[in-house]
Amino acid sequence: MAGTHHFSLTRLALATLCAVAVNTQAADAVYREAFPRVAIDPSRGVAGGGDADFGATLQYWQDDQALEKSKPWIGNPEHEWKLNWKFMDLDHTDDMHPGYLALEQGEKLFKFWAKREPAFRTCLGEGKTDFKGLAAGYPKYDPKLKKIMTVESRVEHCAKTALWEDFKQGSPANNQISLYFKSLSTNMPIKVDTSSTEIMDSYRRGEKLFYTKVGQYNFSCASCHTTTGLLGQRFRGQVPTSPFADAAHFPTYRVGLGDIESLQQRFMRCNLQARTKGLPPGDPAYTDLEVFYTVLSNDYPVSVPSAR
Ligand code: HEC
Repeated sequence: MAGTHHFSLTRLALATLCAVAVNTQAADAVYREAFPRVAIDPSRGVAGGGDADFGATLQYWQDDQALEKSKPWIGNPEHEWKLNWKFMDLDHTDDMHPGYLALEQGEKLFKFWAKREPAFRTCLGEGKTDFKGLAAGYPKYDPKLKKIMTVESRVEHCAKTALWEDFKQGSPANNQISLYFKSLSTNMPIKVDTSSTEIMDSYRRGEKLFYTKVGQYNFSCASCHTTTGLLGQRFRGQVPTSPFADAAHFPTYRVGLGDIESLQQRFMRCNLQARTKGLPPGDPAYTDLEVFYTVLSNDYPVSVPSAR
């Protein structure tokens, strides 16, 4: 009798162990659904969005001429979103918004540190002291660091190595200096190097993230930013727009925040809005999303400082 009892206890213990093992396995491989993908041709940059899947809006804002024609829509909630808010970028608005103050701040900050430690300048320019046009090539793969670098991660890296300062991504100092660096490429077409294997691998990872459902609402970025999802429809007082050319105007002044924010901080806020825990700016997953977004901005001009 005692033997049988012992036997069944062992069996019970074994069964429990097995159940725990199975559960652990299930917890390791988090189940994720994907939003249906739509065709994007990354080699066509800002024009690579098929068309209807992203609201077919490119025709209304792709250049100055198109924007000029669409001007009557400004202020009309039914149509305004089709302009992807491009009418709020520099050259299209006469308003002196606080994005310009942040830019001034960034220039001052950069010059202060570059004077004190010239290595900060050469590090940011990767040897070049004239930054004109450099930002239009970001994000890019850095073979020395063996990493994909964004403007913001370059600023953080150079502050750390040349100044021993912590200008963390998403901090005011980082956003302001990044804005200044990008402004030296304003009006120059974005040219992310799609012939680089590292960039295209990152693009594919970013694309996958764009369609992966997460969080309490089980939303992906695509759930809001494609027409199969909520694009063009009112969502908590706002209308999600197409992801094309979005990277061009970051860091941007955000009226609702009263501050400038980087592209990755915007990702974080979109995640939070959809009840998903955001990631810290600089996280490799956000860098992949930034690569994806910036490839979709290829050929569109850098447009900072801007406001949204
Ligand atoms: C719940 C809906 C929703 C989800 C999910 C969502 N967004 Fe957004 N997103 C919005 C709305 C609304 C705006 C503000 C309107 C606009 O600018 O498109 C916005 C704005 C943005 C902008 C700024 C556009 C601009 O013109 O400045 C970016 C970039 C962006 N989202 C990226 C993402 C990414 C990447 C994800 C996934 C990690 C994501 N969003 C998930 C609703 C969403």
